Amino acid sequence: MITIKSLVGFQILDSRGRPTVAVRIETTDGWYKSVAVPSGASTGAHEAVERRDHGGAFAEKFYGGNSVYGAVHIINTVIAPNIVGAVPDINEIDNAINNLDATTRHEVLGGNATLAVSLAGAYAAAHRANSSIARLLNPTGALLLPMPMVNILSGGAHAAGAMDIQDVLVIPHGAQNFEQALSWSVAIRECAAALGKERGFITNLVADEGGLGIPFSRTSDACAFLLEVIEKVGLKPESEVGIALDIAATQFYRDGQYHSRATKQSYSSSEWSALMLELIRDFPILSIEDPFAEDDWSAWSGFMSSLPRQLQVVGDDHFTTNLQRLQRGAKEASANSILIKANQNGLVSDTAQVLKAANANGFSTVVSARSGETADTWLVDLAVGWRAGQIKVGSTHGSERSAKWNYLLELEKFEETTFAQPFKK
Ligand code: PGA
Ligand code: ZN
Repeated sequence: MITIKSLVGFQILDSRGRPTVAVRIETTDGWYKSVAVPSGASTGAHEAVERRDHGGAFAEKFYGGNSVYGAVHIINTVIAPNIVGAVPDINEIDNAINNLDATTRHEVLGGNATLAVSLAGAYAAAHRANSSIARLLNPTGALLLPMPMVNILSGGAHAAGAMDIQDVLVIPHGAQNFEQALSWSVAIRECAAALGKERGFITNLVADEGGLGIPFSRTSDACAFLLEVIEKVGLKPESEVGIALDIAATQFYRDGQYHSRATKQSYSSSEWSALMLELIRDFPILSIEDPFAEDDWSAWSGFMSSLPRQLQVVGDDHFTTNLQRLQRGAKEASANSILIKANQNGLVSDTAQVLKAANANGFSTVVSARSGETADTWLVDLAVGWRAGQIKVGSTHGSERSAKWNYLLELEKFEETTFAQPFKK
């Protein structure tokens, strides 16, 4: 019987050069694997607690308080003794972690410590079954490859405020397969850089997720630019490529108002909602994420009930991959889609529960990377394993981004797959 021989946490760097938690797990038959957790910049208030040292006993001056030695210490001294010796099983390992820390936000252990162990456990469970995670969760039939949502223009916390909103992305929904979807996205990303340069913008500065930090002052200007780019590469904006926006509105919401740095104006929730509706009316936008601040619940529901057409309204900071918040959202019809980030939740199995509950309530699901990433590809394993239907990992620049895209290309090449068509009418 294969059991867990060792579980060792250690500190590594993410794509922003900030420390993050990794774990190496080894089983009694000699197999081992390392996994790494990512980290956000525009984090929601209701996310699992990310344990960083910040002046505490483990603080390391060279990392400006951001070291994660405390989280690593917790893995090695508190969690590992409860895991080593166990038969690898996703639910059993997560139960053991929940027994050590019953808080929803993993306040005792830290969500970065819990997720690292949970992911390592998932890989060990797959190894025990002589399988991949995707195949462990889908033993037979074609694997469902998710539709990508690809970042082209970046602003907000990921690009030093180049725009008020965080991302302008494309959804290549008319593509026949993943490879084609990715090739369209690359063409659009490169053409945006060339056209931006032609217009006199500095385009060699790449934002945290690999997008272009072009400082459009109005979101409508950014959308018009992207539309022009889509047409310039020979693709059709309505039927082949749609626009997605991540407004990340919590970032510029203070004292009940939405404050635009670009226009130097402030907007009430209803004024902001009117602006969002105007964008929906004027552009082929398929999906809009966090159009309102995380706790501005009435603005979310009001927006949903006044939508003039079909639109995916995604809660990221709004739901923080938290079951209670999702359930409230379903009850109040505040959105119709959820961003699934395992590190907002802190455990693989609890994240799967949120995804399941989302599907049960008719919500679409978009599995997402974070702005601070590593080259790890567990996100793809889980997105495919959960049949999430959509994935968002940033742009097509940066190895921590392309590692995920490349793994999807590999799955399409070597496994029996179908390509998700979440926007097919
Ligand atoms: P974050 O951004 O990882 O900085 O939170 C990603 C997103 O908002 O979707
Ligand atoms: Zn977001």
